[in-house]
Amino acid sequence: MTVTPTTNNHKPKRIGIITSGGDCPGLNAVIRAVVKVATYKYGWEVYGIPYGTDGFIDLLVGKRQPEELRIKENGYDIPGLVQGLDILHFLSGSVLGSISKGDPAKHANEILHGYEKLGLNALIAIAGDGSLEIIEGLARQAEAQGSPWNWIAVPKTIDNDIPYTEVSVGFDTAVNRVTQALYDLTFTAASHDRVMVVQVMGRDSGYLGMEAGIAGGADAILVPELTPILDDSVITGICRHIGRLRDRGRQFTLIVVSEGVRNHLGQKEHYIGDYLANQIQEYSRKLCGTGQPEYCHLDRVDTRVTTLGHLQRGGTPTATDRLLATSFGREAVELIANGNYNQMVIWQNGRVSSVPISHVIEQIKAARREKVAPSRVDPQGFLVHTARDIGIYVGEVDDND
Ligand code: F6P
Repeated sequence: MTVTPTTNNHKPKRIGIITSGGDCPGLNAVIRAVVKVATYKYGWEVYGIPYGTDGFIDLLVGKRQPEELRIKENGYDIPGLVQGLDILHFLSGSVLGSISKGDPAKHANEILHGYEKLGLNALIAIAGDGSLEIIEGLARQAEAQGSPWNWIAVPKTIDNDIPYTEVSVGFDTAVNRVTQALYDLTFTAASHDRVMVVQVMGRDSGYLGMEAGIAGGADAILVPELTPILDDSVITGICRHIGRLRDRGRQFTLIVVSEGVRNHLGQKEHYIGDYLANQIQEYSRKLCGTGQPEYCHLDRVDTRVTTLGHLQRGGTPTATDRLLATSFGREAVELIANGNYNQMVIWQNGRVSSVPISHVIEQIKAARREKVAPSRVDPQGFLVHTARDIGIYVGEVDDND
């Protein structure tokens, strides 16, 4: 394909692209969109930085040469299959590689020098809350040293916990993965009249659990925003709910629990699903033993647990994620073309726009101080009302609900 730049500056702009933090489906679709718009529309050069900010250090120490990082139109050919950049639209993970551990701030000088070596005019960072904060710190340092990064952030995470954007890249695919898992577990649960506990990711946010739980037909959804701690009242509430369901003829129960929910002591458990299942087993026996009629359906409660883990970050991106990634990638390039730097692209009210990264970082820092997710399921919002009104247990109703 011939590249027809619409701008004719003496030297093409050189932009970098980086994926930072945990991967999710849709990262490569953003990269594809960025490269297409930047090269076809503007005639710029795009450089893919490998393994997050570590890639800049590799450049500095000569482990990689700048020209190796250039993403060309035909960079990822699969002979006879999909040509050029287009395979990226469908692949999950990150073709650039990503880093979610370590402390890049400790190597700030090397990173900044590596960045300078590449001679970028601007950088697009596809990042989650943690990596946004890290890159913002580095960018501030670069600015203080008189070489601003001119960067644009693209929000990505299956946790959907980034402020200002209603949705982040990767979330919809994860919701669909969990929804499918709930469907797959329904019939084995039904065959054995079991209580099936499904532990989902989300860190401190309940969006993934809540949306997939409703879509997947769960009977109970436990998220940090509504049931932060699995205390007596929550476990008793769930047992009563299981009893009521059985009373109505539904002998099995599907329970979604987000990994951010804590045990009765308020501590995080690596396997909170297992903890919950044991508690249900114990309480149901106890309650049943009281002989009270409301608990008579709790005999022989049999629990099983599925921890979905990193399967939630796999799979080809859904149509919604591909659309979001493509729109975000395009918008990121447009912001650079207009010199509107230090912005994060967002999805709000059915369209793409942007907010200053500083606003986003302020909220991320405030949330960290309060030890909550930067964006949370609203306990009084439509998701929770929908769940309750169709009979899903999401915790006890308090007077404000
Ligand atoms: O932030 C995305 C996420 O998948 C969380 O939902 C989860 O807690 C975490 O990353 C897992 O991280 P890692 O890939 O380092 O195990």
